[in-house]
Amino acid sequence: MPIIAGNWKMHHDHLTAIQVVQKLGFRLEDSDYDRTEVVVCPAFTALRTVQTLIDSDKLRIELGAQNCHWEPQGAYTGEVSAPMLAKLNVDYVIVGHSERRQLFGETDETVNRKVKAVLGNGMTPIVCVGETLEEREAGETDDKVRGQTAAAFAGVKAEQVAACVIAYEPIWAIGTGRNATPEDADATIGTIRATVRERFDAPTADALRIQYGGSVKPGNIGELMAMPEIDGALVGGASLDPDDFARIVRFWE
Ligand code: PGA
Repeated sequence: MPIIAGNWKMHHDHLTAIQVVQKLGFRLEDSDYDRTEVVVCPAFTALRTVQTLIDSDKLRIELGAQNCHWEPQGAYTGEVSAPMLAKLNVDYVIVGHSERRQLFGETDETVNRKVKAVLGNGMTPIVCVGETLEEREAGETDDKVRGQTAAAFAGVKAEQVAACVIAYEPIWAIGTGRNATPEDADATIGTIRATVRERFDAPTADALRIQYGGSVKPGNIGELMAMPEIDGALVGGASLDPDDFARIVRFWE
């Protein structure tokens, strides 16, 4: 099943989050959820509110967080742990988003620890990988995503990897309005899948879902989803508006 996830980043307080999720709930039909999984990833302060709304309105939207710490508890001022998220019925946790790697010092090693914490608490990581513009121009895209993929899943069991989600997000395409061509995105996602096949096995690589992310819009989602390797999308800016996000969810239209 494809998976379309909205990464709200540092947008929407808990009050606007209610309006956005209610509108999204009105716009989506049961038949839409039968064709694709729909995830929203609000800021920490809106998680509880969105979870309550999803439960009370029996919405089939799934809840995601944007980050977590790898330790279950402790003296880590300002951090939120995986067990805390699991208690809120969070299903997915974005791990290693390029903004966290570039702005908040996240490394392949911390990504790996977070992946294990998320899995260990019964949630699914959405592991972000992707190259910078300089790396792309130097022909280093494949090496970069291969390295990030291998590091993220080091020491993780194949059956757990099979249930994970990877988001391939070329950094130069995030928030720039400049998306990768469907062919380029498909080729790099194929490389990521090949890495999983080599490190684990073919059934694991086939089962794992790999999203594309970076300037996904209602106008380009159709051609991206038509590519054989692309199993979904991680959507930033265009997920903030429930009308746009609903159109992206219905990528087949
Ligand atoms: P964008 O962000 O859709 O605004 O480019 C994608 C992301 O960073 O997940």
